[in-house]
This record gives sequence, C-alpha cells and structure tokens, in this order.
Amino acid sequence: MEKEIKNLREQFKKSLAALKTRKELLIIENEYTGRKGIVAQMLKRITSLTPEERPRAGQLLNQIKKEFQDALIKKEKEFSQEGCREEEYIDITFPGQNFIQGTIHPVELILKATEDIFLGMGFTIVDGPEIELDYYNFEALNIPKDHPARDVQDSFYVTPDILLRTQTSPMQVRTMENQSPPVRIISAGKCYRRDSIDNTHTPMFHQIEGLAVDEDISLADLKGVITEFCKQIFGKDRIIRFRPGYFPFVEPGAEVDVSCGLCHGKGCSSCGNSGWLEIMGAGMVHPHVLEMVGYDAEKYTGFAFGMGAERIAMLKYGINDIRLFFENDIRFLTQFK
Ligand code: PHE
Repeated sequence: MEKEIKNLREQFKKSLAALKTRKELLIIENEYTGRKGIVAQMLKRITSLTPEERPRAGQLLNQIKKEFQDALIKKEKEFSQEGCREEEYIDITFPGQNFIQGTIHPVELILKATEDIFLGMGFTIVDGPEIELDYYNFEALNIPKDHPARDVQDSFYVTPDILLRTQTSPMQVRTMENQSPPVRIISAGKCYRRDSIDNTHTPMFHQIEGLAVDEDISLADLKGVITEFCKQIFGKDRIIRFRPGYFPFVEPGAEVDVSCGLCHGKGCSSCGNSGWLEIMGAGMVHPHVLEMVGYDAEKYTGFAFGMGAERIAMLKYGINDIRLFFENDIRFLTQFK
C-alpha cells in the first residue's frame, strides 16, 4: 500500500496543479479527501492488511489526508485573493471621478488675509474665549455695570458675570495682563449680540481686534497701520479718514472710513452718496485701561481698533446682505476662491 500512497500523492499533485476554477477544486476535494473519496476507501482497506502492516499504513494515510487538506485550503485561499483582485480591478482608461472641491468661506478669507497683513507689520496673533467674563468684556474696558454703552451691546448671559463676548476688545485686557510692553497683537473671532436679524445684523458675527502699546505710540501710528491695511485689503487707491467716535476704552476715539471704491469719494448709491464707507472703530487706549492692567500710563501709550469681518467682506466683495454668510447656500459660497 505504501507504493500506492506514493502514487496517489503524485496524482494529487498533478490534479492540483491543473486546477483552474473553484468548482474543480471542490470536485478534487471530494475525490481525494471526501467521505467516499480515495483516501477514505484506502482506509477501509486497512483491515485486509496484515496486523503488522496496519499501523504504518494508517499513519501514512492520515498523514496524506492532512497533506491534501492543507494543500486544498491553500489553493482555496489563492482563489479568494484572486476574486478580490478582480473586484478591485481598476480600469485606468476609465474617466476619473469628479470630486467637488469646497471653497473657503468669504469671512474666513477676510480673517486670514487680515491676519497675514498684520503679521507682515510685526503683529502676533492671539486667541481668546468666546464665553467671557463680564469683567473683561465690559468692566476692565471702562464700561461699569450702569454704563449706557452696555445698552447697545446686550448679550447672551450664562450667569450675571459670564456672557458670550460682544466684542473682541476683551483680548486687549487679557493680552496686557499677560505681557508687558511692547505689545502688538491682533485677535479675531466670533462675537455675539442680542440684535434682531436684518441685512446688516446677525446675533453672531466676527470681529478683528488690534492693539499696539509701547513708548511713543501716537495717533499717527494708528493711521499709518490702518491705511496700510486698507490699501492691502481694498486696493492701493483707497484712502481713509477718521471721524470722532466714542468708545469708553479709547481716548480719543474714532470711527474709521475708507473711500468708496466705486466713486472714489465723489458719492454714489453704494456709499449712500457720502463717498465713504465706515469700516471700524479705533482710538488711543484709555489711560485708565492701561492702569487697570498695571501699565504705567505716563510711560506707555497705545492704539486699538476693532472691525467686523463680515462688514469688511461685504465691502470687499460687494455683498448687500450679511445673512448670506450664514445661509450656507453653495451657489453663494463657491463664488469666493
Ligand atoms: N469693540 C468696539 C466695538 O465693537 C470696536 C473698537 C475696538 C473700538 C477697539 C475702538 C477700539 O464697537
């Protein structure tokens, strides 16, 4: 029987090598190692052998059965891998899939452009909390509890002392508390006010704050910095003007206008015939604010400014309704690249 087993192994090897399909594999499996297969038949025939021959034959047959089974499993695996490859097959001549690429939100574009411009002028970027203490949002900015300036900046209160910040100006105080002059920072982010929604108001919007404190900082520095910013954001031909404006944390305070890009100051429908467009609040940091953070107000002076990112975007891109920024209509959003 030993010879027979040897031949069987050869025969099996040949059949296995000739295998082409899974179906054939099942047939061969049945033929060799199945319940009524060749190996099973031979095992039955062991009884016809002499008692001396039986153990060796049994051992060899079990061994070969195991051998066949292993080889069949291996082959089966090869088949399933090929099947998998078939499914993953890529036709490189097929037209590619078109991915719809997103665009950066226009407000984000303005924030990034503004940050870049001020980084170029030696400012650094700082970030602050949107959930803010009343102290930083108002108190330390010269706006005590009973101050009328609070009326136009009503907010969403978490507790009587904690609110959603109404402006980025608290970052002036937070920055000065943490570092001594010279200070040159800008800080951009979301702000919140209890405003009714219309084409120029949304309860959430973005502000960009700037602050510079050092010895000998004057209004001229503020004008220079804002002029440079406007030229880079809106175009070289733009000029700015300062009008007196009141903010409790600056003295003197100003509203800054940029010349209208359409009529260049002559007056047209887009600038309400004035020739100017209001873009930000600004001024020289109030000595009291400096003192409250422990700065020597005799030695140091500074300027600060704050602008609405949506407003800048509206002016730059000619958008007439602030609500468009938050409706997430991709027909609107994909226009800004
Ligand atoms: N935070 C002010 C506002 O929201 C703007 C401002 C900032 C004015 C800095 C002066 C200086 O109206």
